[in-house]
This record gives sequence, C-alpha cells and structure tokens, in this order.
Amino acid sequence: MSDGAVVIVGGTSGICLRLAETYAGRGRDVVVTGRDLERTAAVAAGIPGPGAAAAAAVDLAEPESIAGCLSGVGAVDRLVIGAVDRDENTIAGYDLAAALKLVTLKLVGYAEVVHTLLPRLTGSASILFFGGLALRRPYPGSTTVSTVNGGVTGLVHTLAVELAPIRVNAIHPGIVGDSPYWAGKPAGVLDAVVDRTPLGRLASMDEIVDASIFLLENGAVNGVNLEVDGGWMLR
Ligand SMILES: NC(=O)c1ccc[n+]([C@@H]2O[C@H](COP(=O)([O-])OP(=O)(O)OC[C@H]3O[C@@H](n4cnc5c(N)ncnc54)[C@H](OP(=O)(O)O)[C@@H]3O)[C@@H](O)[C@H]2O)c1
Repeated sequence: MSDGAVVIVGGTSGICLRLAETYAGRGRDVVVTGRDLERTAAVAAGIPGPGAAAAAAVDLAEPESIAGCLSGVGAVDRLVIGAVDRDENTIAGYDLAAALKLVTLKLVGYAEVVHTLLPRLTGSASILFFGGLALRRPYPGSTTVSTVNGGVTGLVHTLAVELAPIRVNAIHPGIVGDSPYWAGKPAGVLDAVVDRTPLGRLASMDEIVDASIFLLENGAVNGVNLEVDGGWMLR
C-alpha cells in the first residue's frame, strides 16, 4: 500500500463523507475537511476504521487562508475536492456576493488546494474534482453552479497536462437522490427527473462513490470528466 493519506476536502457530508468512510473501511488513512474544526473533528471521529480518520478545517471561499489551514496535512496519495456551498442565482437577479463566493470556492479554491498540497503529493498520487451536470442541464437558479461546473472541466484539462504524470479527473453526477441536499426535498420534486432518466431512478451516493474510486484508482484514466447520471443526458 502506498504511503500518504486520502485527503477529502468537503468530506463532512454527503457523497464525499461516504467516500471517506469507504476508503477508511478499506484500511486507508483519510483526512476530511469542513469549515468548522470542532464539527469536522466530530465527523472524523464517527468514521469507522480500520483506516484512521483525521480532521482539518478550511474555507475554500477564503483562498488566502488555505495554505495555513492545510499546513498540518502530511503526505497525500489521493486528493478529492468536492466542497460546495450552493448559490441559487439568476442573471435577472444577479447576486454578486453569492456568485463571487461560489466561483471563488469551486475554481480558485479548488486550484489553490492543489497548489498548496502539490509538494506533498506522493509519486502515485491522483486527484479528483467534483463538478455536476447542471453544467449541461441548467435549472432555474443554476447560473453560477452551471458556470463553475464548466470551469471544473477546464481545470481537469489543464491540470492533467501541467501536473503529468499525476492523474487528474472529475466526476459530474446527475441528481443524487439519496444525498442530503436532495433527500430533504418534498416528495415528488424529482419525479420529472426520474421520468427522464432511462434507468428509471436516480443515481445513489454509493454509485457515485464507486465511480469516484474508479477514477482515483485506475492507472490509465486521466483527464476524464465522467458523467454519472443513469443516462439522464440522453433524453
Ligand atoms: N448531491 C447531488 O445531487 C450532486 C449533484 C451534482 C453534483 N454534486 C457535487 O458533488 C459534490 C458533493 O455534493 P454533496 O451534495 O454530497 O455535498 P454536501 O452534502 O452539500 O456537502 C458539501 C461539503 O462542502 C463543504 N463546504 C461547504 N462550503 C465550503 C467552503 N466554503 N469551503 C470548504 N468546504 C465547504 C461542507 O462542509 P461544512 O458544511 O462542514 O463546512 C461539506 O463537507 C459537490 O461538489 C456538488 O456540487 C452533487
């Protein structure tokens, strides 16, 4: 097994927490991050082993602070960056502060995490970003989300070349029905999406985790923006 932890930025909740639990369950040491250290430490303490789980606090919307916040992180063998703070925004009612926050978090913040941790990446390291299919299937209020997900695609392309031979990929889920953000919505709100999905149901967190591990572990997969949506984009 390689030295170095699986570092999961935005690992206190949802898909990325499930990914951290999966890696720790396979015996890998993980570091999860959220914005609040106490809360993140409590989440890390609840991740079952046999791998160890540590916590760090970092706010990607404040990129100048990222290097200091991650100074305690050691060698990194798998770097996952999935943090999001959703911005419901439209051009007609454009909220500059909200847009700047998400753009900073997803694009500058994601890049600055890689910049900060680059000297600590192992020789076998790989990187995974989270985008999403609002990129290709916008919804009312997705103006900033759709925009930054396009930026994630570009980030993969440029970093896979610049950081070679380190592999860099992204996963772009469709709507993940059992993720905390969607599971809490009123019944029926996703019926139209399910109807449009050839699979007849939405992708699950476990299926996104499985695809994430494929992108992180397969030695030949590089520069890929993988859509995982049960075929939603076909209709
Ligand atoms: N869920 C879906 O259906 C879906 C669909 C398409 C794409 N995606 C993408 O998949 C990824 C995971 O989604 P999810 O729904 O599983 O996430 P989630 O449950 O909403 O969790 C978001 C994570 O981001 C962290 N975070 C929020 N603001 C942050 C900031 N400013 N700086 C650093 N960390 C911050 C949160 O930590 P704290 O709150 O502890 O600070 C939390 O760990 C996201 O990138 C999302 O855009 C999800």
